Amino acid sequence: MIVRLLLQVELSIFSIKTDNLIEFVKILYKSIGDLCLMNVYICMFVSRLEETKKVHIDMVYENGLEEIERVYIGLEEIDRIYGWNDCFSFNCHPTGDCSTPILKKSNILIGAFVSIKIVQSLDRAKLSKLEVMADRECNTKAQAAGNNVAIIFGVTGLVGKELSKRLISKSKWKVYGVARNPEIKPIKSSSYHFISCDLLDPVDTKQKLSVLQDVTHMFWITWASQHPLDSPESCEQNKTMMCNALSAILPIAKGLKHFSLQTGMSNYVPVNGKTILFDEEWPRGNGSHNFYYVLEDLLHETLAGKVAWSVHRPGLLIGASHRTFYNFIGTLCVYGATCKHLNLPFVFGGTRECWEESYIDGSDARLVAEQQIWAATTDEITSTDGQAFNAINGSSFTWKQIWPTLGEKFGVTAPENMFLEDFRLTTAMREKEKVWEEIVMTENLHQTKMKDLANWQFLDLLFRCPGKLLGSRAKVDQLGFTMKYNTLDSILYWIDFMRDEKLIP
Ligand SMILES: NC(=O)c1ccc[n+]([C@@H]2O[C@H](COP(=O)([O-])OP(=O)(O)OC[C@H]3O[C@@H](n4cnc5c(N)ncnc54)[C@H](OP(=O)(O)O)[C@@H]3O)[C@@H](O)[C@H]2O)c1
Repeated sequence: MIVRLLLQVELSIFSIKTDNLIEFVKILYKSIGDLCLMNVYICMFVSRLEETKKVHIDMVYENGLEEIERVYIGLEEIDRIYGWNDCFSFNCHPTGDCSTPILKKSNILIGAFVSIKIVQSLDRAKLSKLEVMADRECNTKAQAAGNNVAIIFGVTGLVGKELSKRLISKSKWKVYGVARNPEIKPIKSSSYHFISCDLLDPVDTKQKLSVLQDVTHMFWITWASQHPLDSPESCEQNKTMMCNALSAILPIAKGLKHFSLQTGMSNYVPVNGKTILFDEEWPRGNGSHNFYYVLEDLLHETLAGKVAWSVHRPGLLIGASHRTFYNFIGTLCVYGATCKHLNLPFVFGGTRECWEESYIDGSDARLVAEQQIWAATTDEITSTDGQAFNAINGSSFTWKQIWPTLGEKFGVTAPENMFLEDFRLTTAMREKEKVWEEIVMTENLHQTKMKDLANWQFLDLLFRCPGKLLGSRAKVDQLGFTMKYNTLDSILYWIDFMRDEKLIP
């Protein structure tokens, strides 16, 4: 009796990564090609070059599309069953006549499904074994080539997004990105693999991550924001997330070289009325629950003497994301756009000290991402005892200096008296959700709710900081990390970026 079996293997689920695909198909043919009658259909999702950035061109060659051209022959028909615009189905015969190469170099492979139609039953266990073989073969090759494999926890956040783009654009990096929800505009690159995983869930974390034995660098840029920052519950949740990830990956990632942890300037406790430039060795505050200390201690216990690790402490993060709880740029942009839409004055509400004096450092997401790469890959500074680094732009700023320029950027008039001590965004922006919906619709933006981008309490607090949190750059400067930004330039850059992404008008 002929048994027909249609088996669809989704790569991310079955741990055949896109770049393992060729190995998988080769091994499949080599091992069982003559044992059973089969047709293998490869559905490839490709993005067209004109929609992608120049930087991806190099990846096309690096990731061996030439090889793919040789392996997959005979364009069968455009397959739209999965609803992908750029989805092609190729019929691969074991004997295959190699007449028509179909994948052009101007296409970039971003994902694939393998459908195997077998005209004779096949032992599923055997197939799993083949997947493992393909994985191993690919990993061995990658390691021999000195490749780095990053896993970024919090890949859709302010720094996570920037870090993933930067690593993918460098040669010899493959990136796994972890978050619960996918991006609005997913990264399209064959070096990138998104993994949807709730790090608070130990079962989900183990299932999704304990197959990633090729990881060489871990980047922790995530946190649980359900509880107040300085609460015991926050300490507990953040520790649980990291424990779940470490216990899934450490036992299998034998080539792990570095763990990078992002915390923040709240590592330091401001001293009332004093301007102190906190350096990395400043003693911890007593008495408060600070999850940053809990995570550093966990890394110390788990990695000391075995794996190098570093901690990065940014000030106010300046970047773009719609998955961020403390989202300065998102909140500022929604405020500016709402003022413009309703013809409201662009007022700064906070304390006079916060308006006129430097209270916090700006930290551009590009700088924080690059600093983490620098610390993770510069042998002279890595240490298995852990190294802490402030991650700040450089020159300090005051809101008074930059507020008028921000008003101009949003096309709103900053009133003559733009500083009002008792003006609160939580009150002024209350029940304006419908206004944001209207802006999104009339300006043809990506669908977001006001709360996806704006956190009014955050800005009200930021503009009323009780103490100064300013850091020193002396350590990174001395060790040779030279990237710096002017904070006003950073803010203007990320407003433009939000506009380009169609997140704001
Ligand atoms: N924001 C700032 O201005 C600032 C300033 C200084 C320091 N920091 C510190 O920097 C660190 C990172 O914060 P951030 O603001 O940069 O991050 P963020 O932009 O808020 O990003 C958080 C990321 O983690 C993911 N995530 C959250 N919960 C998760 C879970 N349970 N499982 C898997 N993924 C999860 C989010 O995506 P999903 O929600 O889709 O899962 C998102 O990708 C924190 O320690 C924070 O205190 C932040």
